[in-house]
Amino acid sequence: MASLSFFQSTTLLVLTILVSYGAFVPKVFANDPLMSAFEKWAGDFGKNYKSDTEKLDRFEVFKANLQFIESMKNQPGLTYTVGLNQFADLTNSEFVAKYATLTLPKKQKRSTSHAHANLTSAPSSIDWRSLGAVTPIKDQGQCGSCWAFSAVAAIEGINQIKTGTLISLSEQELVDCDTTCSACNGGYMDYAFQWVIQNGGITTEADYGYTSGTTGTGGTCNTAKTGNHAVTIAGYTDVTTYSETSLMNAAAVQPISVAIAASGSAFQFYSGGIFTGPCTTKLDHGVTVVGYNNTGSTHYWIVKNSWGTSWGESGYIRMLKDYSKTSGLCGIAIEPSYPTK
Ligand SMILES: *[C@@H]1O[C@H](CO)[C@@H](O)[C@H](O)[C@H]1NC(C)=O
Ligand SMILES: *[C@@H]1O[C@H](CO)[C@@H](O)[C@H](O)[C@H]1NC(C)=O
Repeated sequence: MASLSFFQSTTLLVLTILVSYGAFVPKVFANDPLMSAFEKWAGDFGKNYKSDTEKLDRFEVFKANLQFIESMKNQPGLTYTVGLNQFADLTNSEFVAKYATLTLPKKQKRSTSHAHANLTSAPSSIDWRSLGAVTPIKDQGQCGSCWAFSAVAAIEGINQIKTGTLISLSEQELVDCDTTCSACNGGYMDYAFQWVIQNGGITTEADYGYTSGTTGTGGTCNTAKTGNHAVTIAGYTDVTTYSETSLMNAAAVQPISVAIAASGSAFQFYSGGIFTGPCTTKLDHGVTVVGYNNTGSTHYWIVKNSWGTSWGESGYIRMLKDYSKTSGLCGIAIEPSYPTK
């Protein structure tokens, strides 16, 4: 083995001293020009790492994600953008484990027709946000409760359309009390509708606020509040499956709960434009269609997500509509359903 030169051994000595003083990590990585970008990002998103080791682990993930984001830039014909968001220190598999948690029923019985299926007067575009039927973007946080947010947004929508009053409703009540779902480990929108029907209604966000975003788990069902029925629904209906036309006819009448495949990196870092994939049809996330637009050359769905306003277009995503496959892009036309009032 070659002996170390004086310079090498001095460097080694200095490094050893730095390590023993716990100063090794920042000194060396401060030289990485991406570290300051990482630290700025971490500051912007309020990330606090417990140790230098954790910080460095997350920095490596951040750099890989940055590389992905760079690789998506200037792609000819791409109709959407990706960018840094709160998920930039998560590997795609960590992201999937936390956020792609929709649990589909083992035996699915989907309807082949529904009340709006044969609507002939669907407008060429509709945006339920501008019609006052959509509450501000919410954030499910560290909890796999997309199913509750999707169902609640659809209930908020039909309630506003029928009563003229937009009331923000409680996801936490569903997370804590709907035992057919699995709280922060996943659930299904139709089960949430069923629970609201059986319970005789659902209370407001103000009455039963969301706490699982920080705890990451469901709480104990607050039975003192399950009797507060701010909004009731009469039933729910599955939209004809594998038909974007049926989904459009339904969305022309009210916001619709849909299941999508959201596990790809492009979806993780979507920041704007009309999303065209890539994605699978392995449904793993619940969101809400709150409109569509057939006016321009690229038709799209307007979809409300529950990942806060720093993801996507202030919390929303526009997804390619009238896709070449009947599933719709990311399977959006496979499992749509809506509450009735
Ligand atoms: C819609 O039209 C189809 C084909 O004409 C028919 O079979 C179906 O029953 C209709 N659905 C409703 C809800 O009216
Ligand atoms: C639909 O898209 C067209 C063309 O891109 C745009 O001008 C219009 O404002 C959009 N309509 C709605 C309701 O978003």
